[in-house]
Amino acid sequence: MKTQDGRLVVIAGASRSGKTAYVRQQVAGAVRVVAHDPEDQWSQVKGWQRVTSRAQLLGTLQRDQGPLRLAYVSGGNLGDEFGFLCGCVQYAGRFVAPLDFIAEELSDVTTPAKAPGNWGLLLRRGLKRGINIWAISQRWAEADKTAVGNASEFVLFRQSSGDDVVYLSKKTRVPAVEIDGLKPLEFVRYDAYKQTFERGKLTF
Ligand SMILES: Nc1ncnc2c1ncn2[C@@H]1O[C@H](COP(=O)(O)OP(=O)(O)OP(=O)(O)O)[C@@H](O)[C@H]1O
Ligand SMILES: [Mg+2]
Repeated sequence: MKTQDGRLVVIAGASRSGKTAYVRQQVAGAVRVVAHDPEDQWSQVKGWQRVTSRAQLLGTLQRDQGPLRLAYVSGGNLGDEFGFLCGCVQYAGRFVAPLDFIAEELSDVTTPAKAPGNWGLLLRRGLKRGINIWAISQRWAEADKTAVGNASEFVLFRQSSGDDVVYLSKKTRVPAVEIDGLKPLEFVRYDAYKQTFERGKLTF
């Protein structure tokens, strides 16, 4: 069966290294974007809609086929809300229209074990439905392995610890020395299919 393949981009780096800014630039031209936004950050960007309840989230994602910039700033249990959001995104991407999904700080809502519940389903099935996933974490050694295992692309910024440098080097073919030498806003982009990498730097 023909599928429309989405991309899964894993973004790694210490605090203030450039992860959110990078994704913001990358999705600038995308038509429909949804972000898990526990820090209430995407919601402040011009043109984004701040959604705080499950009812509003579900209503918007079930109904809205057009351009979308939605930031889910949930109260309550972060892991549960993230799971609910992943379920809504899977539905909207499959039955309404393709979209980009931004998952901020995954080590807060996942563990190094297999990806939990709806997030796992989204990773394993969402890509086939044309959903692009931007998976962000400061500490990938502490976030789930399903995302790393399925990634089509890695964007590696400056790491806060040697452990993360070693971990990410092992999961890609980027030599540790390339990752270790990065300054804030500098990154290495690794294509997991071609198994090649290139350096870059964010500019504003
Ligand atoms: N539009 C912009 N113009 C200028 N500087 C920016 C802009 N957006 C972000 N920055 C700067 O880029 C740096 C990286 O910020 P960013 O929010 O991307 O970090 P991050 O890796 O997401 O950090 P965290 O893990 O804490 O969320 C910061 O110093 C920030 O002030
Ligand atoms: Mg950030």
